[in-house]
Amino acid sequence: MRNWWENAVVYQIYPKSFQDSNEDGIGDLQGIIQRLDYVKKLGIDAIWLNPIFISPQIDDGYDVANYDQIDPIFGTEADAEALLVEAHKRGIKVIFDFVMNHTSDQHPWFQEALKGPDNPYRDYYLWQKAADKQELPTNWASFFGGSVWEKEPNGSDYYFHLFAKEMPDLNWENPEVRQAIFAVACYWAEKGIDGWRLDAFIHLEKADFQQQLDLEPGKIGLAEEYYANLPKVHEYMHEFSQKLKAKYPEIFIVGEAASADLSLAQGYTDPAHVECDTVITFRYFPETTSQKDPRLPANFQPAPLDWTAFKEEMQQWQTKLGHERYPTLYWNNHDMARMVSRFGDEEHHRAASQKMLATLMYLQKGIPFLLFGEEIGMKNLLLDEQKLVYDSQEGAFYQNALMDGYSKEATLKMLNQTSKLASRGAMQWNEQAYSGFSTVQPWSGVNVEPIYNAAAQVADRESIFHYYKKLLALKHQRLFQKGKWTYVDFGKSFYSYRRSDSEGQALVICNITNSSHTIEVGFAITQKNVLLANEELNIKNAKTIELPAYGVIVLKQRG
Ligand code: NOJ
Repeated sequence: MRNWWENAVVYQIYPKSFQDSNEDGIGDLQGIIQRLDYVKKLGIDAIWLNPIFISPQIDDGYDVANYDQIDPIFGTEADAEALLVEAHKRGIKVIFDFVMNHTSDQHPWFQEALKGPDNPYRDYYLWQKAADKQELPTNWASFFGGSVWEKEPNGSDYYFHLFAKEMPDLNWENPEVRQAIFAVACYWAEKGIDGWRLDAFIHLEKADFQQQLDLEPGKIGLAEEYYANLPKVHEYMHEFSQKLKAKYPEIFIVGEAASADLSLAQGYTDPAHVECDTVITFRYFPETTSQKDPRLPANFQPAPLDWTAFKEEMQQWQTKLGHERYPTLYWNNHDMARMVSRFGDEEHHRAASQKMLATLMYLQKGIPFLLFGEEIGMKNLLLDEQKLVYDSQEGAFYQNALMDGYSKEATLKMLNQTSKLASRGAMQWNEQAYSGFSTVQPWSGVNVEPIYNAAAQVADRESIFHYYKKLLALKHQRLFQKGKWTYVDFGKSFYSYRRSDSEGQALVICNITNSSHTIEVGFAITQKNVLLANEELNIKNAKTIELPAYGVIVLKQRG
């Protein structure tokens, strides 16, 4: 049996930023419904929505206070049902986001747990007493800064949180927790969702809390070895997915496995041990680190992609995972800056570099995950100081950089290029006030631009939008879904690969530089064998072709 998702192109919608329908500056479900025809026109098969459940929004919905109810900022349960109906009517599948590693501290389970050690929900979470002679049970740091331990407000125990302190981690060793989480998954599957994106699942198991990092007293550090990719994660995932797939065989499970390397990803997606159908790793994009300041965290210092390392990395993922599984193919998501600003040439070759990057990535073996707005060339949102500093991690970087002698302007520039908030700006629908996203100031801020808005892009046949349509139509051909992938080395200015099956071959050649280069392909290039190109090319029936800056050509070859 062929799974629907094997051939799918997924479009990620950040619900808060897509379309506001009730004039509160926040995107909502009715807004998404209004825009389904646009999304369909692009040629995608599924939408993935970031969390829409009741949440205090400490982490933009990744802090869930009730898994069975839609947050009123997004609408109602009836709106969610209507979205499912309207999407399905158009042949679009719907993937929801499931935060299973932690809840909000406002979740009734945690509120009960806070009532004391004897409460039946106490064991839903992870508790420790302070270690001898030191304040915190361990010296492990959380991903959002500070310790993983927070003292309960009215007692003396500490609870564990890998992210914000308002997001306590669930205790997956407790079978009741696993059962409760499974019930949530079924609740929405029963309503007709087609897939789950599993947030942070690689953290479900924690090592025992007696272990300390080897650090100076009083210091804390990230301790991935104690809370990421531990062996029982496989067990928990297998139990969850197998049970879910037994009831809903067509449900698609995509796991967010941020730090998973290739061998871990192979384990999580092993078809013989049902866990995830595919995973999203954050390992695709090695950066050139030589110019980074060692005094400051690397992740907020912009750096160019290390193309040599990227080529090696991709070859590994394509050949080792793409063989019998389906890697995810993506350049950006809500946790990172936008692709054209980060990897392309936003200033001089915005359209060409956007089209080239998309072709490079999505015609490979695997499932494309597009971030809303990339199909119209949306760049990073220009954030003001207030916005950049309000988020805790960005704020800490800001303070440290100023202390290390960076100017305010230079620091804000770095943050604007690297912050995840830069990808969460409102969708640019048109050139009117607030880009047609809302009639009032959007919660996130918005870029208002000519050309790079949906209305202008749809109206222009040469636009990025229309190029994406052609690209995705090509992606839906068997060759680009099932065909073998082989890297073709044309030197450092190019990224190139061949897709081949019993019926034919195609060669994808991308000029990854900002100047033009001539390439010898080994066979005569005619207009007829050009499947796709992002620029007007001078084809002379010769074996060589000149590709302009960020030029891309996809050539059909026989046999
Ligand atoms: C991964 C999500 O993508 C990110 O946005 C969130 O902050 C963390 N998980 C915590 O849920």
